[in-house]
Amino acid sequence: MADAVAWFLAECLAEDPSLVLGLPTGRTPIPMYRALVKLHRQGRADLSRATTFNLDEFVGLPARHPGSYHAFMRKYLFKHVNLDPSRTHLPHGDAPSPVAEARRYDAEIAAAGGLDIAILGIGANGHIGFNEPDRSLPAGTNVVTLKAASRAGNAAAFGGEVSRVPTRAISMGVGTILSARHVLLIATGAGKASIIAQALQGPVTTRVPASLLQLHPRAAVVLDRAAAARLTE
Ligand code: PGA
Repeated sequence: MADAVAWFLAECLAEDPSLVLGLPTGRTPIPMYRALVKLHRQGRADLSRATTFNLDEFVGLPARHPGSYHAFMRKYLFKHVNLDPSRTHLPHGDAPSPVAEARRYDAEIAAAGGLDIAILGIGANGHIGFNEPDRSLPAGTNVVTLKAASRAGNAAAFGGEVSRVPTRAISMGVGTILSARHVLLIATGAGKASIIAQALQGPVTTRVPASLLQLHPRAAVVLDRAAAARLTE
């Protein structure tokens, strides 16, 4: 998965060096970022003119906080490649008004011409970004309340203590994600097999936010065998 996506990105960057990328955090993309850094070191991936927008950030955390997604991105990608820091974007978790920050973020994405490729992980509950399963979902970037499972999944970056994981996040909305010209969903491991089958082969429903990707005309899914194990064809 990691090599396939890294090579794909390197090829896309060679064709269009000024790509606007939507980027995920989480355990799944770490090997992908490592593979991309490796290609960069080999002179095969030039990010000098690319622009990036991350999917989400925790409300209340400044960029320097070690549990922030800003810190994650510095650690796994930004400090290893030639991205221009002025063209890497994440929502500011410590903005005085998270709601205003969410609106500003969508405006910033629009000003960059929209996302060319949105790379997404999937939560075991089907979330994309931090759009958690619900009766309805906001289209634009918004302030979201995290489900217990999503907070637990992030505890490692907070000394293993779920209670220290923020309760809210600013997340790109499903409309922002679906407006990307291409969408690439990545998943690995047996723990994702059931939700991948639901998202790809079940009904389109906001109860499984990733199922909305079935509506996108240019969506691709990259899985390892374990994550693909419950697909029926
Ligand atoms: P994971 O998270 O890669 O750590 O499983 C994915 C997600 O929750 O979007």
